[in-house]
Amino acid sequence: MRDLYEKFAYDYDEFGPIEDYLGDEKTFFNKLFSEHGVKTVLDCACGTGQHVLMLAQSGYNVWGSDFSKSMLEVAHKNLQKKDCSIPLYQCDFRFLEQVFERKFDAIVCLTNSLPHLHTDEDLLTALRSMKNRLNQNGLLVLTQGTTHFTLTLPSIEVVVNRPDFSRIFVKEHDGRFQTIHVLDLFHSAERLESNQYDIVYRILLDEEYKRLLTQAGFTNIRMYGDYKMNHYDEKSWRLIVVAEA
Ligand SMILES: C[S@@+](CC[C@H](N)C(=O)[O-])C[C@H]1O[C@@H](n2cnc3c(N)ncnc32)[C@H](O)[C@@H]1O
Repeated sequence: MRDLYEKFAYDYDEFGPIEDYLGDEKTFFNKLFSEHGVKTVLDCACGTGQHVLMLAQSGYNVWGSDFSKSMLEVAHKNLQKKDCSIPLYQCDFRFLEQVFERKFDAIVCLTNSLPHLHTDEDLLTALRSMKNRLNQNGLLVLTQGTTHFTLTLPSIEVVVNRPDFSRIFVKEHDGRFQTIHVLDLFHSAERLESNQYDIVYRILLDEEYKRLLTQAGFTNIRMYGDYKMNHYDEKSWRLIVVAEA
């Protein structure tokens, strides 16, 4: 499997200060996890470590893993800066048992990470691997910005607009896949550079998730449309999937 984030990792956090967008997520996880008595959490696509940091700061016992060595390198640096020590491992989330002997009360796979897998076979392998590393009735949480509604939005989106840097998404999709061309434009005297990263996601919406999660043996599957726990519908900006092992 190719690491799509090998170079992108080092600029990934240009999305902006995480505190700006993690507030609602923090409240969501605290509510969900306290209702289910969650103490141990694995973020199996931890990326640059923003969610493991947030969860550790909220008092959970946290582990992180990711396929991308570059993302993990950035995560290590981000955690170091915050004086926070969290075990991080390189691991493909289709094969968690190869790295993790222990089980967790919750596994999270956030911000369009699972849809990097394109076939039912790979998706089921990943979901079964996640179920296998969860304690009985453990929680799986998946989140993404791809929804029935966001798929109807204009294909060009300015995601970051700063005097020195712009990040533009150019999106295209057919019924099954969505490609996001990420255009990073650095336009200051210190850094004049443009980079493009092309990421192809399998389009997974509520019905597909229900089918795949049920096939993988999960129960009590629910879909939220935002971090305030409103139900997912055709107008939602977000799809948040919660299921029990
Ligand atoms: C869009 S980023 C999201 C990162 C992070 N969860 C966040 O919210 O910022 C997707 C992440 O999924 C990881 N990823 C993709 N396929 C993976 C796989 N098979 N196993 C583990 N990680 C994977 C990528 O390396 C990348 O870090």
